[in-house]
Amino acid sequence: MKPILDDLYHKNESTPERLLYLLEHLDSEAQELLFSYSHQTRLKHYGRQVYLRGLIEFSNVCGRNCHYCGIRRDNLNVDRYRLSREEILACCREGHRLGYRTYVLQSGEDPYYTDERLVELITAIKAEFPDAAVTLSLGERSYDSYQRLFDAGADRYLLRHETASEGLYQRLHPDSNFHDRRQCLKYLQEIGYQVGAGFMVGLPGQTHEDLVRDLMFLKMLEPEMVGIGPFIPHGQTPLAEFKGGTVEKTLIMLALTRLLLPEVLLPSTTAMGTLDPLGREKAIKVGANVVMPNLSPVGVREKYELYVGKICTGDESAHCRVCIEKRISGAGFEVNMGRGDHPSWRR
Ligand code: 5AD
Ligand code: FES
Repeated sequence: MKPILDDLYHKNESTPERLLYLLEHLDSEAQELLFSYSHQTRLKHYGRQVYLRGLIEFSNVCGRNCHYCGIRRDNLNVDRYRLSREEILACCREGHRLGYRTYVLQSGEDPYYTDERLVELITAIKAEFPDAAVTLSLGERSYDSYQRLFDAGADRYLLRHETASEGLYQRLHPDSNFHDRRQCLKYLQEIGYQVGAGFMVGLPGQTHEDLVRDLMFLKMLEPEMVGIGPFIPHGQTPLAEFKGGTVEKTLIMLALTRLLLPEVLLPSTTAMGTLDPLGREKAIKVGANVVMPNLSPVGVREKYELYVGKICTGDESAHCRVCIEKRISGAGFEVNMGRGDHPSWRR
């Protein structure tokens, strides 16, 4: 066990066999060593800095039917909303006032937001806040569309691969295609975005082999950002009766990701804070270095319910800003309100 962890720490690489052995045999002693190595690695590249991004969930309309997701097309109980350009800009303004220099625009796959509308939106945000980065999280689109949004000024794109196992992917995404999604990630890299991939931990039927595949896929893709969170069942989805992922297993995957991709921007996700009041702090302590507090208008927050119990739905953006700073400094880290680009990135 120790040689596997030492290799990860010193060379930032491993093999599928070794990672599988590690996941199968990790006892509390080895886990402690893993977490101390991942923490050391973050200190080396980022010190105690934690970057904040403001998340704007601007539409919960979605054309997809992912089995795990609360805003899937077939969930007729969702009160669907779309924010207007002015409403989104108002969120950015509030965010800017609170110090945020990255706005993450996230939505379901909503056809209302055509390239034309998005280009107009991105252009307006960039004109008003030239010092801020725009991150998109809009799902799968065409190469041409990604290119136009990039040309309008978008800096980064989040598109989790969700799972790197084809069989599991197809079972969870009845009307999507495993290869299409990977192709999208390639397109985004080719165009020049800073790209975020990532996966869920504890999906129904997910094995250690599947998780190893996720890690190896990330190592191969080398994205600038990686989003990892526990699967949390949502009552109005086909997976309502399944068990969710755990904080502990997610922490292990975060730590391994920090070791395999030492400079990666790695968020401590809201799903972690949902499962455990101290989940986000725990993630930061094992190597996560980004937090994405909500900037959406409070009136729509509850409607963007990907999973049950999502935190912060009743809290004003200003409240979250203060709350998260307290949590980060309470855990012994420092908030960094800069753009927080990946160290290797040049536009
Ligand atoms: N539990 C945890 N994460 C979820 N996501 C969607 N539904 C759930 C759920 N039930 C994640 C997906 C998606 C991201 C925006 O949220 O990984 O990419
Ligand atoms: Fe929203 Fe703590 S981050 S209330």
